[in-house]
Amino acid sequence: MKHVLNLHSLPDSVWDVLIGEALKHAENRAYRSNQHPGKHMGLVFFNDSLRTRVSMELAVAALGATPVTVTPGSGTWGFAWEKGRPMLGGEAEHIQEAVGVLSRYVDALGVRLFASGTDRDQDREDALLQQFAAASAVPVLNLESASRHPCQALADAAVLTRHFDGHAKRKKFVLSWTNHPKALPMAVPNSTLLMAARLGMDVTVARPDGFELESDVMEKAAELASSSGGRVQESNDLQAAVLGAQVIYAKSWGAVRRYEHPEAEAKMRQSHRDWRITESHMHAGDNAQFMHCLPVRRGVVVDDAVLDGSQTLHLDQAEFRLHGQKALLDWMWEGKG
Ligand code: CP
Repeated sequence: MKHVLNLHSLPDSVWDVLIGEALKHAENRAYRSNQHPGKHMGLVFFNDSLRTRVSMELAVAALGATPVTVTPGSGTWGFAWEKGRPMLGGEAEHIQEAVGVLSRYVDALGVRLFASGTDRDQDREDALLQQFAAASAVPVLNLESASRHPCQALADAAVLTRHFDGHAKRKKFVLSWTNHPKALPMAVPNSTLLMAARLGMDVTVARPDGFELESDVMEKAAELASSSGGRVQESNDLQAAVLGAQVIYAKSWGAVRRYEHPEAEAKMRQSHRDWRITESHMHAGDNAQFMHCLPVRRGVVVDDAVLDGSQTLHLDQAEFRLHGQKALLDWMWEGKG
C-alpha cells in the first residue's frame, strides 16, 4: 500500500516528479483539477494546525475529492492506543477500531500525530504513526508525526527549486536552531535537513551544544548529501554559520535531554535567548532569504524586521503546502511517477 510516512524513503524518480508537479500546480491553480471525483479523504488531527488542515482540505477538494476532518476527542470519541490492557480509562474507542472504521469510509487517511516529548524511542521510531498505518486498510499520509513532516519538506523543496531556478545544488543553506519557550519536537528540523541535503545544498546545522539532532537523522542526511553532491556540517556558532548563507531556515526544537531531565533542558533553552534571527544575521549572508515553516513567534525566533522585509520566503512556503499536497495526493491515487 502506498503510505507516505517519510518522504525520504521514496525513490529519487518520485521525489523529482513530486517537486515538478508541485511547481506546475503553483503555475496553474486549475492544473489537474477534478481528477479524482468520488474519492474521500479522512484527515485526523490529534494536534492543532492552521496550514496543514486548511491546505489539505483545499487540496483534496481541488482534485475533485471530498475531505472529512476528524479531531479525536472533540466531537468524536477519544482513542486509546495501548494493547493488551483493559480499557478502563477515559477513552471509549481503541485506535485499532477507529482507523479500521475510517478505512471503510474513505480512500486515504491523513494523520497529524506529534511527538510525546516523554518517550524518546517511541518518538524517534514514529511508533504511534506506524501503529496508525498498520491499522489502516487505505494509504496513510503523514501530516506531521513525532519525527517527520514530509508535506512541509516537499513544499520547501519546491520553493527552493523555484527560488534558485532549478539550481539549489551547492547553495549555502543554514538550518538554525532558535530559542523558544517550549521544547518543540524535531519533526520539522529532521525533514528540513534531509530535504536540503537531498537537494544537494551545502547545509550547516547551527545549534548550541546540547541541541544536536538525533544521530540517525544526521547520518541519513550525510548519506543523501553524498548521493546528491551536497554537504552537511554542524556549528555551535550562529554568527560564523550565517556568513555567506543564501538561505537561513529558522526552527526551534527541544534538546534530547528533555526526555530525562525536562527542567534542566528548559534552563538550557533559556540560556540561549540570543539565538534569534535578526537583520544583522541576514546581512551577513549572500542575499540571504529567510525561511520558517510557521507558526513563528515574533521577537523570540526572529525579529519583526526580518519577517516584514523583502528577503523572506515564509509565505511562499505556506502557499506551496497546497501545491505540494495536490501533487502528493495525485501521485498516491493516480500512480504518477
Ligand atoms: N507548518 C505547519 O505544519 O503549520 P500548521 O502546524 O499550522 O499546520
